[in-house]
Amino acid sequence: MMPARPTGDPGRAAARTAVVWDAVFETVEVLATAHPVRSLRVIDLGGGTGGLAVRIAELGHQVLVVEPSPDALASLRRRAVESGVEDHVVGVQGDASELRTHVGDELADMVLCHGVLEVVDDPSQALAATAAVVRGGGFLSVVVSGRLSTVIGRALAGDTARARAMLDISLQDWDLRVDGPRRFSREEIIELVTPHGFAIDRVDAVRVFTDLVPSALVDAEPGARQGLLDLERAVAGRPEFSALAGQHHLVARRTPPHP
Ligand SMILES: C[S@@+](CC[C@H](N)C(=O)[O-])C[C@H]1O[C@@H](n2cnc3c(N)ncnc32)[C@H](O)[C@@H]1O
Repeated sequence: MMPARPTGDPGRAAARTAVVWDAVFETVEVLATAHPVRSLRVIDLGGGTGGLAVRIAELGHQVLVVEPSPDALASLRRRAVESGVEDHVVGVQGDASELRTHVGDELADMVLCHGVLEVVDDPSQALAATAAVVRGGGFLSVVVSGRLSTVIGRALAGDTARARAMLDISLQDWDLRVDGPRRFSREEIIELVTPHGFAIDRVDAVRVFTDLVPSALVDAEPGARQGLLDLERAVAGRPEFSALAGQHHLVARRTPPHP
């Protein structure tokens, strides 16, 4: 079984993804404890090249990746084969609007929707599609890019006009072609998910420091990467840090009616 936490000196990528993996792993453990005699069914919507899907498959669960990009699906397949979990990961070409068709009648214990609501035509529709395939008591895991950290980043880069614009665009008025990928505040993602029949379990602040600390500093100092990782983990559950978070990771539990 894959360890919950990486050991040794973690790479920079680990500091970016560890907080998300911690929460996904803990949620999978909750579900696996509730269903000890079967593997879990997990859907990864927009799962890309399958970094997370393969790690969950390595825990012995079945993962269906619904992903529009054929290139990403080819990489996913290679990654699954290299990790020896090709029997546990299936990739299908499709998008949020076709999710129900691909999933069929066997609802999922957990649906991942990471980095997708930024780019879909309608985030609320995509969430309705995910809600329709999660069984009652199952979990939704959503990762979205942070709005306020983007405002701060633009301001620090001297682009105050774009920082100001990012501050005020409502999600309803967001035009992907003009404004670029969507960004969300912590409150916005909670408000978007809740009406679809989910109770919020946790919202973690992700990448609070990792994107701010220069690589040269982290690479030069022995143990600095581990220190960064520890710091990311220490602030993940503190809402006051969400303004600085590069991403918000929300985990929510599906309430009935689905059996
Ligand atoms: C930023 S990547 C995130 C990949 C992966 N989930 C991760 O967290 O590393 C966004 C992914 O969403 C996919 N995507 C874009 N539009 C989509 C849609 N309408 N429905 C589902 N996935 C979509 C893209 O092909 C891409 O793989």
